[in-house]
Amino acid sequence: MTTKRPAGIDDDLIQLARLALAGRPQDVQAFVHRVARRHRADRPELADALAELLRESPTRASPLRRASETPLPVDLDTRLHLMRVEDEPFLTHEPIFAPAVARGLEQLILERGRPDELLRAGLHPTRSALFIGPPGVGKTLAARYLARELRRPLLILDLAAVMSSYLGRTGNNVRLVLDYAKSVNCVLLLDELDAIAKRRDDGGEIGELKRLVTVLIQQIDDWPPSGLLIAASNHAGLLDPAIWRRFELTLEFPLPNREAVDAFARAALAPHMKEADAWAHILSIALDGKPFSEIERVIVSARRNAALNGALLPQELAKALDVDALPKSARIELANKLIDADAVSQRQASEITGIARDTIRTHRRDGDRGGDRA
Ligand SMILES: Nc1ncnc2c1ncn2[C@@H]1O[C@H](COP(=O)(O)OP(=O)(O)OP(=O)(O)O)[C@@H](O)[C@H]1O
Ligand SMILES: [Mg+2]
Repeated sequence: MTTKRPAGIDDDLIQLARLALAGRPQDVQAFVHRVARRHRADRPELADALAELLRESPTRASPLRRASETPLPVDLDTRLHLMRVEDEPFLTHEPIFAPAVARGLEQLILERGRPDELLRAGLHPTRSALFIGPPGVGKTLAARYLARELRRPLLILDLAAVMSSYLGRTGNNVRLVLDYAKSVNCVLLLDELDAIAKRRDDGGEIGELKRLVTVLIQQIDDWPPSGLLIAASNHAGLLDPAIWRRFELTLEFPLPNREAVDAFARAALAPHMKEADAWAHILSIALDGKPFSEIERVIVSARRNAALNGALLPQELAKALDVDALPKSARIELANKLIDADAVSQRQASEITGIARDTIRTHRRDGDRGGDRA
């Protein structure tokens, strides 16, 4: 475009300041390109000067440094890559989030979609979030989901792995990784954040741990609004309060309720069996209170055995539930729950739980007399 628009320079300056202050180096670079092109005819000196700046090999600290030109940081001793990079995050199945978690995640995505409105109000999008919850409920999955929705690469720094292999240099390593991540428009996941807290009891390493906590605090404080920093932890209580206070948003991931397990199992089983609905219902009762990862383990193990043994999936699912390992009283209770929920007939309940039909009937009559059944 070569139209003369002297007043446009003011607008350009404002836009440039906005991008630079928001810490969006890639956008700054693209914008300078556009301005240079636009003014090639009417302000050739300006266009040349800008082109020269873009050509100059950017220094380490330069905000114009391109992400793709920066090598991934590696540990200086082992040369191992310190983090995993998923350039195009991919989910094998759609996650199921509890309502409060879903709302929090949608809010993060919404803010990223409309940063200008926030900037005009003197605000920036949420920079950092802490995901808390027991193992296997979708914390890592949620970070991947966010990266996919935001169309950004996902960088994962597993603090447990980093700490176990090179604690002596962990502070440096973490700084290297976070410096790199800051220069890329990404979602950075600090996974297993409580690994730091757990190491605190080991004597002799207090100094290095203190340094690490200091580095983390500094890095979280300096984190640019353009990036999204997520940390995941199993126990909020274990974390140094100085660290978790710094996160702008905390999302608690609960264990799935029955409906969530049902929906998860139905989606996982539907492509492989016609009785998916009934079995999803059975699993939601038998595995009540278990994390998604456990439901997934049962389903995959049953499918594997069905494939290898030429057996039917329902039989293998019943086996994978491993009810034999339960005490008799628990198996009777499970049989009753399955029947009460209309998930199965008395005969099927007997097959699944290994409890004789007579025994089940007797217990049901007792239960009725006791009046504890609706
Ligand atoms: N909310 C969910 N929706 C669907 N699948 C899930 C969900 N949570 C977990 N899963 C399944 O369980 C697997 C493990 O989940 P994930 O790695 O996200 O757990 P986590 O909360 O990060 O656990 P940890 O604390 O052990 O790291 C996932 O790969 C996914 O298949
Ligand atoms: Mg995880």
